[in-house]
Amino acid sequence: MKILVIHGPNLNMLGSREVNVYGTLTLDQINKEIENCAEAESLTVEIKQTNSEGEIVDAIQRTSADAVVINPGAYTHYSIAIRDAIASVPVPVVEVHLSNIYAREEFRQHSVTAPACKGQIAGFGAQSYLLGLQAAKGLMK
Ligand code: DQA
Repeated sequence: MKILVIHGPNLNMLGSREVNVYGTLTLDQINKEIENCAEAESLTVEIKQTNSEGEIVDAIQRTSADAVVINPGAYTHYSIAIRDAIASVPVPVVEVHLSNIYAREEFRQHSVTAPACKGQIAGFGAQSYLLGLQAAKGLMK
């Protein structure tokens, strides 16, 4: 089973970006954890980071994976294009967030993308991605 993991905008800045909110792990370190978890769960992962909304839409439309785990970053809160891309493919999509978006600023408390997903995991730091992988695996059984 193959899972596509998509990191959206500004997640390449993890490790130095708002460390009080997102922690000190870099994206490379989080990706290592994702790869270790995938190996333990007998999953194959493809990991992609992009700051571009259109590239996220393309990645979702073109994926040959069995499921997608996505952190759409700030696009979560306003990208109807990403929401529509998620809704347009038959593969299950799990939305993840490092922070608990419901405990943050009001503008972050609404996700336009989550209703098109199977579910959402938020607030567990890097572990949100690992829980997302496990959830995606469960969906494929
Ligand atoms: C985030 C939450 C978003 O509100 C924010 O714009 C991000 C990261 C998270 O993982 O907690 O870039 O998606």
